Formats: sequence, C-alpha cells, structure tokens
Amino acid sequence: MTVREATGVGHRAAIVGAGHTRFGAVPEGPRALVRSAVEGALASVDRGCDRSSVDRGYLATLGFGGWQIGNSSAVLAEELGSPGLPTVRVENACASGGFAVQEAVRAVSSGGCDLALVVGLEKMTDVTSARRRYWLGVSGDTEWERQAGLTFAGVYGLIASQYLARFSVPREALAEVAVKAHENGALNPNAHFQKRVSREQVLSSPKVADPLGLYDCCPVTDGAAAVLVASTEAARRFTDTPVFVDGTGAASDYLAVQERPDLLGFPASRRAASAAYRAAGCSPEELSLVEAHDCFTIAELLALEDLGVAARGKAGELTLSGATRRDGRLPVNPDGGLKAKGHPIGATGVSQVYEIFQQLRGAAGARQVRVAGKAVAHNVGGAGATAAVTVFSVG
Ligand code: COA
Repeated sequence: MTVREATGVGHRAAIVGAGHTRFGAVPEGPRALVRSAVEGALASVDRGCDRSSVDRGYLATLGFGGWQIGNSSAVLAEELGSPGLPTVRVENACASGGFAVQEAVRAVSSGGCDLALVVGLEKMTDVTSARRRYWLGVSGDTEWERQAGLTFAGVYGLIASQYLARFSVPREALAEVAVKAHENGALNPNAHFQKRVSREQVLSSPKVADPLGLYDCCPVTDGAAAVLVASTEAARRFTDTPVFVDGTGAASDYLAVQERPDLLGFPASRRAASAAYRAAGCSPEELSLVEAHDCFTIAELLALEDLGVAARGKAGELTLSGATRRDGRLPVNPDGGLKAKGHPIGATGVSQVYEIFQQLRGAAGARQVRVAGKAVAHNVGGAGATAAVTVFSVG
C-alpha cells in the first residue's frame, strides 16, 4: 500500500499524543477544560513536545449554551501561548470531533503543517433543561422536525421500534449494549458513569422515547479531549510508537430524517466507512477494535451494520453473543462509549481517537483489550446527517 493510497494525499499522518479530561458534570468552565486536555496531550508525547511545535489548531465544538459561538478556535492559540497560530473551528454537531481530526490529517498529509492540535470540547451541564433541549435541537432539521417536537431521543426511539419489529430483534439486545457500556465505563476513570447496571435495571428504567429508557440514552456531559496529529517524518521525532491513520472517509445526508427512504441504517455512515476502508486498503474483517457512535443503544446496532461488521438486522444477535464485549471477538467501545463515558458533543469524536491511541499502544490500563489489527473510529452527527470514519493501525 502506498502512502498516497493510505491517506488519499501525500504524507501519512500519525497520532503522537492524546489528552482527556474527566467527563461528567464537572465544575470547570470551557477554558479550563481546553487547557487541561491540551496539557494532557502535550505531556503524553514520549520524547516531549514544546507547545511552539504545534503549527495548526482545530477546535471541535457546537458552542453549546452559546459559549464563544464566534471565533472560538482562537482560544487554542491563547492557551498554547502562540498568538500567530492559524486555528479554525469545526462544527458538525456530534461529529465535529471526527471531522476535525480528519481536517488535521488532511493538513498534515498535504504537507501544509507538521504538527496539528485537535481539541474537542463541550460544556453542557450549566444550562437549564429547557435551554438544553434548544441546544440539542439546533443540530436537527430546525425547519420542520424540531418545530413538530421531534427530539434526537424521539428520532432514535422511532428507529428503535421499527428496527426491533422489522428484524424480530428482542428488546434485550438494546439493553445489552447499555450493560456492556456501563461495565466498560466502570473501568474508565474519565467516564461520566463509572457504575455497572443490570439488564433488568435497563429494561425497567423510566421511558424517555419508547422503547428507549433512561439507560438507553447517552447523558448530557461536560468534557474535552485533545490529540496531536503529525506527519510521519515529524512523528519519529516525538515517539517510536505512533498510531498511524490508514484511511479516512466522510459523508453527509439529508438533515431531515423524513427525506430518507429508510431509517434502519445511515447511508452517510456506510459511505464514510467504505471510503475509509478503501483508503486504508482493508475490509471490516480486519478490524480488531471499534469505537462506535452509540448516542442511544439502537445507534450502536446501526453502527455495527453500517460499518459492515454485522449483517443487516444481525447486530443484536452479535451483541447478545458477547462478541462486542472487552473479551469478545471484536471489542466495541471499551471506554464505555457515549452511553457511559458520556457525550460532550464536540469532544466525542476526539475522545474516540484518544481511546484508540491508548488501546493500540497497550496503555489503556484496566480496560485494555487485545488488539491484533486495525481500529476504527465512527462518529455521527445528529441522526446520521453527517458521519466521519477513520481507520488506524500501529503498522
Ligand atoms: N444514563 C444513565 N443515567 C442517567 C442518564 C443517562 N443517559 N441521564 C441522567 N441519568 C441519571 C442522573 O445521573 C441522575 O441520577 P441520580 O438521581 O442518581 O443523581 C438521574 O438520572 C436524573 O438525572 P437528570 O439529569 O435529571 O436526567 P434528565 O431526566 O434531565 O435527563 C435524559 C435524562 C436521558 C433526557 C438526558 O440525559 C438526555 O437528554 N440525553 C440525551 C442527550 C442527547 O440527545 N444528546 C445528543 C444525541 S444525538
């Protein structure tokens, strides 16, 4: 495989450092969260990394609650003490982080910079629940569907009931996604929820949008994550164990779900995945770790099918077989996923890359899984309006 095939452009990109704040309802404000993630990423670089080495910055954030909705990326230059640094904000709702990482990969691959910093951020818990609904709603179809009261939980609830009926999947399959997520989150010191839940607890939790209950939903979370993306040449200066970006793929779809002919899968995810696999020269069978966008339990089942690791209608069976647990054939979301680790909108896609960086380097501690191949990060905006898929390896 040539470098050009691997990334679609000139140089191959690699992750050389990653930082992560605690996810949850935390007292720190947006600035402090950014600072802590950036410092973590710089400190994690094996041979050290001076902040002046960063030559481009990307901030992924929705700007939840109205925080610095304009020009927010300049905070990266301020925090690095590099007022001349070119920075840009990437906003694609819940997929902002995944797209920002891909923009950094493109900048590095094109020879436009040697070392890019990507920070994902959201501060969600300091607004009232009515304002929360507004800020979550802005990423859906605001002309019709939001006006009619359709929330994201509502959309995914509709998808879940249709999915269970169409493919004769038991409700327990959704519950198992949550049980696994909480089991993994219990081992992740950065996770929002670090407690296990039983299948019975999930099934009897208060309904949010039938058939989805409280434990089928991701929470409202604060947090930030950061990664450093380097060209291969620069990467060797920083570490002997970079994590390479083998391929990227991205796609969009109709914003309004009413425009889609079929809700049981996201074409944007499928297109993004096939482009990423093509660029990486691999097939889904070569994956040994998946970071999937499980904003609701049904979303993980759709993700497994859209990524091609389960046949259509069969992700529930795969999940109930235990194959996606940490000790299973294909671990999915060993960090707890959006469900238990939490989903601070702009931070999520960057946090997925943080986890892959730790897992592929064998540094994930108690939640370490056996990784013998490639890893994939799958980040979805809203209910499938945008999707970014990236394939990584240590080879
Ligand atoms: N999973 C598990 N427990 C949760 C939870 C979740 N998703 N959300 C809240 N809780 C817990 C809280 O920790 C709290 O527990 P405690 O009483 O022991 O302290 C309790 O439930 C009540 O918390 P609260 O914040 O009042 O819940 P809420 O009813 O206001 O919100 C949801 C619950 C599910 C509606 C909210 O988390 C939500 O909107 N999630 C979806 C976010 C979203 O749409 N993101 C974008 C996806 S595309």
